[in-house]
Amino acid sequence: MSDSKIASEVSNRRTFAIISHPDAGKTTITEKVLLFGQAIQKAGTVKGKKSGQHAKSDWMEMEKERGISVTTSVMQFPYGGRLVNLLDTPGHADFSEDTYRTLTAVDSCLMVIDAAKGVEERTIKLMEVTRLRDTPIVTFMNKLDRDVRDPVELMDEVEDVLKIACAPVTWPIGMGKSFKGVYHLLRDEVVLYHTGQGHMIQEERVISGIDNPELDEVLGSYAGELRDEIDLVKGASNEFDHELFMAGELTPVFFGTALGNFGVDHMLDGLVDWAPSPLPRETDRRTVDPTEEGFSGFVFKIQANMDPQHRDRVAFLRIVSGKYSQGMKARHVRIGKEVRFADALTFMAGDREHAGEAFAGDIIGLHNHGTIQLGDTFTAGEDMKFTGIPNFAPELFRRIRLKDPLKTKQLQKGLIQLSEEGAVQLFRPMRNNDLIVGAVGVLQFDVVVSRLKSEYKVEAIYEPINVATARWVTCDDPRKLDEFERKASDNLALDGGDRLAYIAPTMVNLQLAQERHPDIQFHKTREH
Ligand code: G4P
Repeated sequence: MSDSKIASEVSNRRTFAIISHPDAGKTTITEKVLLFGQAIQKAGTVKGKKSGQHAKSDWMEMEKERGISVTTSVMQFPYGGRLVNLLDTPGHADFSEDTYRTLTAVDSCLMVIDAAKGVEERTIKLMEVTRLRDTPIVTFMNKLDRDVRDPVELMDEVEDVLKIACAPVTWPIGMGKSFKGVYHLLRDEVVLYHTGQGHMIQEERVISGIDNPELDEVLGSYAGELRDEIDLVKGASNEFDHELFMAGELTPVFFGTALGNFGVDHMLDGLVDWAPSPLPRETDRRTVDPTEEGFSGFVFKIQANMDPQHRDRVAFLRIVSGKYSQGMKARHVRIGKEVRFADALTFMAGDREHAGEAFAGDIIGLHNHGTIQLGDTFTAGEDMKFTGIPNFAPELFRRIRLKDPLKTKQLQKGLIQLSEEGAVQLFRPMRNNDLIVGAVGVLQFDVVVSRLKSEYKVEAIYEPINVATARWVTCDDPRKLDEFERKASDNLALDGGDRLAYIAPTMVNLQLAQERHPDIQFHKTREH
């Protein structure tokens, strides 16, 4: 394959994920995005939480019906002449470390904010993760069909709390029952909103130019007010700046309603125009460019099938360079062997012809029978390892205990393996024989117990434990580390891979420990 073919495939791609607080509208916006991407014909098929169905099953139905590959994990679709990969970020009960890690595998993020609520807790946490790579962020203020907060106040809150400058690209005209549409600041166009068309692509009425007399016909006396408001907004807010956006320092802001399917296309246009194509990535040896001919990629997520009939796991690999083709061979760097990608899953929407081919920015799913771990690198032969796919300090902790105490060895083995796989994290305090399971989302606890039972034949239960947070600790000076280990031994533990960690009963305790031991580094993430 010629270099220029690879280069054009790469420059055509956009790989992003959505960050939002539960209920802000991620599922609804995903559905509208797929509608624009022509991956589905009619909205309303993806969602159905109230009827007890999950989006997942709907997507699988869609997959069958439309003969396209749409799963909850990766959705690929064409838009605006580009090929877009949207990676799912589990958000409700299935929120987990995978959600965080997925954010390290994308090149940009869409932040969805419920404009009635503003910046919420989960969004703050997810934004923190995007900072690890200074990922460019596009913002969508959702639910303008409701009575929402003042747009200026919302942007101020984003700037204050999330420490990112806001550049409004569209500006809302009214809200709630009197939501009339938006003014596109860059296109100098007023786009009018019609209610009741959320299930399809709207036929929008566009008025060009803010001074257009047509606007007075449509908006009446409000047209004048809008002109004044836009003058103020232009004077007081940041202008969109592509360089600052790429550095993760400024976010373009769009307003609309996902439910009413209004404004989603403006946001998508911005995303495909401005968001970066697949970026180079660092390894322990060198930087890998996406247009290199040699294949390379890393595993950022392993999904275990909870169905006991199908015990296989799928390892999700983000391609960093070169081309994937069915049946190809690659080097599994950690185990030092060449492996064949026989039946990898690809996530193409529509374009059947090219199914079975994938490039940088794309995701492939490898069937995994235990040989693939999180963070694993695959290459065309080179021994190098991608960095920046970390473990994240858990936020929830429980002590795990056996029903049958004779099986302690089995339990330890199971927990260590599950922690290597990244399903959960294990901490073994220095001062006792407790086994502490740490997770980012509650569902992970259930997953662990059920997998321990089915795969390791041990029955375990949880007990509450007084741990609020954990940090991996390191120190360049072995003498100081020794001293710390003696002084803080009550709070020290080894994780699944025997790395030293500090487990704190409260955040205040952690803060004090950090103050007392300034030579010790406390890490919230840990590289594989
Ligand atoms: P999530 O994936 O981020 O958790 O959010 P989701 O899309 O499930 O949306 C959460 C709720 O907010 C849903 O209502 C959804 O219909 C509603 N919603 C999303 N976008 C908009 C919008 O632009 N305007 C308004 N008014 N509502 C919006 P629900 O009642 O919880 O669920 P359902 O009965 O609609 O399924």
